[in-house]
Amino acid sequence: MAIKKVSLTQYLVEQQREHGRIPSQLRLLIEVVARACKHIAIAVNKGALGDVMGTAGSENVQGEVQKKLDIISNEVLIEANEWGGHLAAMASEEMDTIHVVPNRYPQGEYLLLFDPLDGSSNIDVNVSIGTIFSVLRKVGHHHGVAEEDFLQAGKNQAAAGYCIYGSQTMLVLTVGDGVAMFTLDREMGSWVLTQENVQIPEDTKEFAINMSNQRHWAPPVTRYIDECLLGKDGPRGKDFNMRWVASMVADVHRILSRGGVFMYPWDKREPEKAGKLRLLYEANPMSFLVEQAGGASTNGRQRIMDLQPTKLHERVAVFLGSKSEVERATAYHLESQG
Ligand code: AHG
Ligand code: MN
Ligand code: MN
Repeated sequence: MAIKKVSLTQYLVEQQREHGRIPSQLRLLIEVVARACKHIAIAVNKGALGDVMGTAGSENVQGEVQKKLDIISNEVLIEANEWGGHLAAMASEEMDTIHVVPNRYPQGEYLLLFDPLDGSSNIDVNVSIGTIFSVLRKVGHHHGVAEEDFLQAGKNQAAAGYCIYGSQTMLVLTVGDGVAMFTLDREMGSWVLTQENVQIPEDTKEFAINMSNQRHWAPPVTRYIDECLLGKDGPRGKDFNMRWVASMVADVHRILSRGGVFMYPWDKREPEKAGKLRLLYEANPMSFLVEQAGGASTNGRQRIMDLQPTKLHERVAVFLGSKSEVERATAYHLESQG
């Protein structure tokens, strides 16, 4: 007998029916984002055949060189989401300010935030990249929408997820009821549920950090990594392995699949910045997924999803993954504070 395949649509309908978790606008939103990700996946796969490699010759608001795929992915997400009536506005790593849904379309009650293409440095070298998204509800009944409407703590997220363009194309989603993974069936063009109730294994022997920044770290980070590196003979009493893909999506996907801890800490290179990663469309959605899978996520001191954002492109230090490791790294920071 053939195995019954559950599609993303069926999964969402069941969530809506059984758990009352997904209002129809949110369901449409998730389906539209998933469809846009299919479109991005096709562009990614074309590579040099599709004029998608290389830089676009422009910079984003954060002074980063934009790749062609950064811009293409941003446009795909905007075009897909503008007209459905489910959104009030969008915010993106690649746009200085928010993109309000044009007047010719009905305004919905949700706000969508995204990192259209995560891991840009990996595009041209054929390593996994992804799209990260976060969904907030517009709170209050005021007319119109402003940047302030997006400045909500991550614990307010209605949904979050990412699509990974890797050896398989997968969509990983939470609506606040655990984490589900869907794999793209290319022949059918549909997302098929391949794992439900994802749990980050409690125990891990694997950390992810860019070691080339070691000399710039703060003492608690140095202490944590030094102890891992001492392996069996050190205070941790076990050997650790290291991975660093330099695509947050790929590193988080590995942690959701087999455990581990991911860190992008504050460092002395640019001391005025809290970290490299962006709070609203990288750290918050990933934190929501990780917590929903039984892990933890902090900035070294506080839970990331409790942080009150002050600006759209705010940066944050990130420690996420296996709960015990994140708690340990956080404790080292709190101890060093006195
Ligand atoms: P983006 O491509 O969206 O700018 O994000 C890249 C981020 C993240 O995905 C990754 O973990 C990190 O930058 C890698 O940074 P380093 O190159 O400094 O290691
Ligand atoms: Mn990114
Ligand atoms: Mn990006």
